[in-house]
Amino acid sequence: MNWNSNLINNLEWADKIINIEGKQKVAAEIAAKVKDGDIIGVGSGSTSYLALVAIAQRVKDEKLNVKAIPTSVELTMFCAKLGLPVTTLYEHKPDWLFDGADEVDPDKSLIKGRGGAMFKEKLLISSSAVSYIIVDESKMVDKLGSKFPVPIEVFPQALPYVEKELKSLGATELTIRPAKGKDGPIISENGNLVLDAKFNEIGKSFERDIKSITGVIESGLFIGFDLNIIMAANN
Ligand code: 5RP
Repeated sequence: MNWNSNLINNLEWADKIINIEGKQKVAAEIAAKVKDGDIIGVGSGSTSYLALVAIAQRVKDEKLNVKAIPTSVELTMFCAKLGLPVTTLYEHKPDWLFDGADEVDPDKSLIKGRGGAMFKEKLLISSSAVSYIIVDESKMVDKLGSKFPVPIEVFPQALPYVEKELKSLGATELTIRPAKGKDGPIISENGNLVLDAKFNEIGKSFERDIKSITGVIESGLFIGFDLNIIMAANN
């Protein structure tokens, strides 16, 4: 039986996608990697969404048997719309994954989490045999933190304690990320708050230092992961 849900069937990406042609090229590159039987980790954000669309098309055209493990509710709903079966980390280890990023430095370290899904994104990257990070040129930076703050998912009542600890780590600016479609802060996929933290300098140990603060669920710093960066040219 099928729901035949208009909400799912008519789902569209909410915002205008910047550099859509470049992102579609990189999406096609990712779709070409799909093999029959693959378990694929699906990242979040607009680039991941376009890659998912391209993969779903190949799966449909070639009748491939593929399962997805999405990192957010949003991409899970798109899997439903596109007819891509989903599975979980309980049942499967991903053969590979694709995900976007907000910043990539020359060491392939990342800032991610504009979508607030960095906990599951990091869990998937940690769990996958191979990780492809798909970005356009605008995401390449000499130094992490040049354009984006570091998103930090925080258990709500730990906020004042985490604030104090982040300041002693050198945070120069801390904001609770506001929601767009509701009053107050955004609530993460796991029911937590997201802080955006600016630092003058992001040290190599910062990912560990931030994570070790009680009340921090995860940060958007991805340092020292074995990542394959695939870059789309800007138009
Ligand atoms: C979401 C993310 C995204 O991958 C990142 O924000 C890039 O998004 P986009 O592809 O829309 O530029 O980390 O949590």
